[in-house]
Amino acid sequence: MKVIPGPASRELGEKIARLSGFERITVAYKVFPDGENYVRLEGNVQNDHVAIVQTTSAPQDTNLMQLAFIAAAAKRNAAQKVTAVIPYLAYARQDKVFLKGENANIETLAAMLHTAGVDDLITVNVHSEKALGKFPFPAANLTAIPLLAEHFVLSGFKEAFALAPDKGAMYIAEQAQRVLGGGAGYLEKQRDPYTGHTTQTGKNLEVKGQKVIIFDDIISTGGTIVGAARILHEQGAKQVFAACVHPLLIGDAEKRILNAGVEEIVGTDSVQRRASKVSLASLISNELKAKQSG
Ligand code: R5P
Repeated sequence: MKVIPGPASRELGEKIARLSGFERITVAYKVFPDGENYVRLEGNVQNDHVAIVQTTSAPQDTNLMQLAFIAAAAKRNAAQKVTAVIPYLAYARQDKVFLKGENANIETLAAMLHTAGVDDLITVNVHSEKALGKFPFPAANLTAIPLLAEHFVLSGFKEAFALAPDKGAMYIAEQAQRVLGGGAGYLEKQRDPYTGHTTQTGKNLEVKGQKVIIFDDIISTGGTIVGAARILHEQGAKQVFAACVHPLLIGDAEKRILNAGVEEIVGTDSVQRRASKVSLASLISNELKAKQSG
């Protein structure tokens, strides 16, 4: 196998190549003045199984086009198999038609990658597992939650309470709880399908005097974490932290979260941010090594 770090995940891709021991193929790329993308493989991939590491956070569409072009270039240069490693999978939140007239965007994305030459996919904590069922090829979903929880254990937070900001994320809090060994619970969150506006309510959680870590798959605008932190403080939590797999942290999200009394934000390098304190490199390289030997 050979690893191709894409322009959007160069650092992570290089770490994965180092850890797995697989050869690294670099990509020359540029964006033309009119915004179009150019990519060129700088090594031989003939008869090789290649793994392209390219996250698809913002600018999503540029990152997706680069991924499609790299996959197509690999196939054009006689790669035997192309695995797309997409740590953050864009458009997974639109995994179905919610309102008449919409598109199920993830289906279009899957078809596009298939046409480009992708044979299988590895992603991490995809927002909707159902989204992966829309791919016309095998798609594996890894979880980075135990790695995030281990980070907190190593920082002295064993037995901290793991909180999911909504019921759908309870599986995430439970994965964290297995590592942390403390309590776990969730908040109720309702979303208006037209405006996207959310409201959160706290049940009686046993967080008084506790160290609490809010675990989520994505932090985008930070609104969910800010709302959860407010409820936790009202219920007497002693310290509040936030952990997520995909720290999109749009605009001033980080500042808003810290201003809401969250002591630290811990994310992974699925998206490279100041909060990316946990690397996905070991998780992904182990998966690639297993693929290679399987
Ligand atoms: C939604 O269901 C996700 O799991 C996250 O809770 C959400 O994407 C976070 O968004 P924001 O940071 O904008 O509240």
